Amino acid sequence: MDTALELENLAKTYKIGWRGIERKAVVDISLAIPTGTVFGLLGPNGAGKTTTIKMAVGFLRPDSGRISIFGQANSLKIRSRIGFLPEQPYFYPHLTAEKALDFYARLFYIKKAVRQERVRLLLDTVGLSDSANLPLQKFSKGMLQRFGIAQALVNNPDLLIVDEPASGLDPIGQVEIRKILTALNAEGKSILLSSHYLSEVENICHEVAIINKGTVISRGKVKNLLDTGDTYAVIASSLPTDWQPIKLATKIERVNGMVRMVVEKHRLDRAIENIRSSGGFIEGVHRTTKTLEQLFMEIIGGDTRGN
Ligand SMILES: Nc1ncnc2c1ncn2[C@@H]1O[C@H](COP(=O)(O)OP(=O)(O)OP(=O)(O)O)[C@@H](O)[C@H]1O
Ligand SMILES: [Mg+2]
Repeated sequence: MDTALELENLAKTYKIGWRGIERKAVVDISLAIPTGTVFGLLGPNGAGKTTTIKMAVGFLRPDSGRISIFGQANSLKIRSRIGFLPEQPYFYPHLTAEKALDFYARLFYIKKAVRQERVRLLLDTVGLSDSANLPLQKFSKGMLQRFGIAQALVNNPDLLIVDEPASGLDPIGQVEIRKILTALNAEGKSILLSSHYLSEVENICHEVAIINKGTVISRGKVKNLLDTGDTYAVIASSLPTDWQPIKLATKIERVNGMVRMVVEKHRLDRAIENIRSSGGFIEGVHRTTKTLEQLFMEIIGGDTRGN
């Protein structure tokens, strides 16, 4: 499979103040985003997500490492295939959504006839057609984030990079962003997204890299990272109060008269038999997975910089 973006051993140290105190933001980050995928960059505050993204889009020069975009070395030309929504975007507040998008399209030398059609289409894509003539200063945060995505799409990029797109949005706003990104991916765009919203990443990303202190500490397909191995949860109801679960169940929880028993695969038959022979009713059996949140806490836990 082709790669939309490949980062190899990126490193970046900032120098702070007149004394030039060094702060290592990115120590060693390598990752590859296959074309057509939604890739999540996950990590606590200060992990180096924004610094990594800024290097990928050419805003910051890495101290070392290599960046390739659609198989080519990073250059202005190849970067024209990228669309970018920064973490804290600034838009001219007095411009209407339509005028602002037209302005960004002009920066890419897009001809007037094409521009008009594209602006209309983009406003429609992000659900802002009804607000085309509203100045951006009157936009809610959710609307501004959607406008930001439209702005990032103005050059019809093949790779969309969005830094914390759902930050500060209410649950409805988050779902709206998720829907937009999912639809863009279905159209064939590759997407790199950084986020704190674990549920967002879990729901829309095919692959994730979890970074901490400037290093990738875990990466892979969401499905595989969340797989807990060969354990199953059996959910049962109608069990008598004197029911004795099988020995060696990994976990037993009782909630509202229901029992959830987690067992290893080779004990699954015995667990089901145990419930049935006790007069219980099997409500469901499924392979257990962890949530990304559990994974995040497991591998990062308290080990952050504290910033
Ligand atoms: N311009 C800068 N000058 C000096 N240090 C910086 C600068 N930008 C970031 N840093 C430092 O680099 C580290 C990584 O910051 P970065 O913004 O990349 O993290 P992040 O993962 O995006 O965090 P957040 O989730 O809070 O957005 C932090 O320790 C931060 O203080
Ligand atoms: Mg950031």
